[in-house]
Amino acid sequence: MTGKARPGTLRLGVNIDHVATIRNARGGTHPEPLRAAKHAEEAGADGITAHLREDRRHIGDDDISALRREIALPLNLEMAATPEMLDIALRHRPNACCLVPERREELTTEGGLDVAGGMDLLAPFVAALREAGIRISLFIDPDENQIAAARGVGADIVEFHTGTYCDAFGEGGAAGAARELERIRQSAAGAAGLGLEVHAGHGLSFATVGPVAAIGDIVELNIGHFLIGEAIFCGLAESIGRMRALMAEARA
Ligand code: PXP
Repeated sequence: MTGKARPGTLRLGVNIDHVATIRNARGGTHPEPLRAAKHAEEAGADGITAHLREDRRHIGDDDISALRREIALPLNLEMAATPEMLDIALRHRPNACCLVPERREELTTEGGLDVAGGMDLLAPFVAALREAGIRISLFIDPDENQIAAARGVGADIVEFHTGTYCDAFGEGGAAGAARELERIRQSAAGAAGLGLEVHAGHGLSFATVGPVAAIGDIVELNIGHFLIGEAIFCGLAESIGRMRALMAEARA
């Protein structure tokens, strides 16, 4: 997000996309993502994450304007590496941009960005954003080649896609996910060794967050869908508070 994280700390970025998903189901303005961001701020989130998709299926341009105007927390803007998004990011100057792959037909971001296969396109894109003072995160699978390529194109941060780990956890519990977790752990160490800040996210829940939070090289988790879903039952403050407590417990 903004400055570099202190070693040992683990930040929580709250992704508010799915507040917009509910709003957009009926059109209109309720529930408002900005209001959710304010609640997240009060509940102790370290940052707000929002994904402005090409098809605007959840977050819209006005949401980004409102978040920039009214939220003091660092904004992590997730987006595809397209000319349209570059213009938007340069206009709003979020604290960080997380570049993600995007396909219209996918339900959510299904895999990491192929940085190694797109270095020629990504290097100038990353440079333009960094020149504007925006930190750059690349959402990648925990893979050695992708990490090296992220370093090569000048990224500040890599965010590891934890979806495969979470899926394995769902199928076999903690034991089933152990191999994927080890891949994340080794990749985090490798990326940190190259001087990259390490984040992780996607699909994390109360059940799956602990083992990822325990990886000391990871300094930030970005979590959305589960927190917003759980808030239906217990409220956003409690949902975030419990996630924070589980993260702290695992890190301790
Ligand atoms: N990080 C990135 C880069 C993402 O694209 C997403 C999903 O939008 C998340 C984290 C959060 O995933 P989830 O909503 O499953 O918690």
